[in-house]
Amino acid sequence: MDSIGVGLIGTGYMGKCHALAWNAVHAVFGDGPRVRLEHLCETTPEFAAQRAAEFGFSRSGADWRALVTDPKVDVVSITTPNAFHAAMAIGALEAGKHVWCEKPMATNLADARRMADAAKASGKVAILGYNYIQNPIMRQIETLLKSGVIGTVNHVRIEMDEDFMADPDAPFGLKSEKSSGHGALDDFGVHGLSLITTLCGPIASVIAQQSKPYATRPQPNGAARAVETADIATVLFNLRDGASGLLALNRSAWGRKGRIALQLFGDKGAIVFDQERFNELQLYTADGSKETRGFRTILAGPAHPPYDRFIPAPGHGLGFNDLKVIECHELLARIAGKPSRTLNFADGLEIERTVEAMARSSAEGKWLDVASVAI
Ligand SMILES: NC(=O)c1ccc[n+]([C@@H]2O[C@H](COP(=O)([O-])OP(=O)(O)OC[C@H]3O[C@@H](n4cnc5c(N)ncnc54)[C@H](O)[C@@H]3O)[C@@H](O)[C@H]2O)c1
Repeated sequence: MDSIGVGLIGTGYMGKCHALAWNAVHAVFGDGPRVRLEHLCETTPEFAAQRAAEFGFSRSGADWRALVTDPKVDVVSITTPNAFHAAMAIGALEAGKHVWCEKPMATNLADARRMADAAKASGKVAILGYNYIQNPIMRQIETLLKSGVIGTVNHVRIEMDEDFMADPDAPFGLKSEKSSGHGALDDFGVHGLSLITTLCGPIASVIAQQSKPYATRPQPNGAARAVETADIATVLFNLRDGASGLLALNRSAWGRKGRIALQLFGDKGAIVFDQERFNELQLYTADGSKETRGFRTILAGPAHPPYDRFIPAPGHGLGFNDLKVIECHELLARIAGKPSRTLNFADGLEIERTVEAMARSSAEGKWLDVASVAI
């Protein structure tokens, strides 16, 4: 394939990330097909036209069905709010397009199952926006784990905190509506699960607690509306290989801006990463002189591919949007039938099943085997 036609639905926070990625991927990697920015969709024709001009798309409109059936579109980026993902992804797959859909896959397990079925039936590539697995530092962590430098991992801990819901006076919005999903589990938990799945394998059992720091939020008319989703979730889990773990999620955590604090403990050492220090990892190995043991910091650089595709100098740092460029390149590799570091809709369904197990465990107050959730 010499070129690939792109359709983009939604142009907010993630829509811009996808647009930047599609614009950059060929320049950064220098391989794969040329990208044609064919068709962009937003909520009104005027807004769509404005965004198309800004992002460099040829055509625009307010009808996503026209976009997914556009013969010049080969792949569809879906960056709309969660509740739209299922209909748009299934529509695109049924129209014979590849799909790059933002996380969470869907707002309920039944929709996720329908999406996975549609992907399988279409034979097209359908991947999810689990960008954190793309960080070159995360790849290095995976390499270190495989090398056995910290031995057998016996405990995994991930804490994910942000403060965009911390203000009790912040108005009631989509994220507080049940139609968006469970809350922190869908917003953050799925990212945590993408990392656990990629680095350590699947989760076998969970016990979870979800909580609402604020029972109500104000509406524009001043009246309080009951919050329907949980901004905080805390999960204990066991991996299939026997290691234990903790996933702690809070989107109402004042002062925390983008924390994904990952700690992996093995019988020979430990690895620590924090998304707020995006370009470094800490490695501790329990060897050598006890007097001089300690964590050492490894800074990202060209030795950690594909950092080298962006910058030839070490320590200068990649950023969040670069993860989307890498993800886009991995998507193109998957479409070309090459090895690809991506989580597809079948992988996403397993993640949604684990989320469902967590939500049920929280409601029932007991441990649940993920396999007990039918898919
Ligand atoms: N991968 C990540 O790290 C990450 C980060 C943030 C958000 N997300 C996900 O991305 C998705 C979008 O989140 P966001 O923060 O970009 O939201 P956003 O509100 O900034 O953007 C959503 C856009 O979709 C548009 N839209 C809504 N309905 C539409 C329709 N029917 N047709 C066309 N356009 C429509 C809106 O006008 C808006 O521009 C969510 O599912 C969210 O969970 C992923």
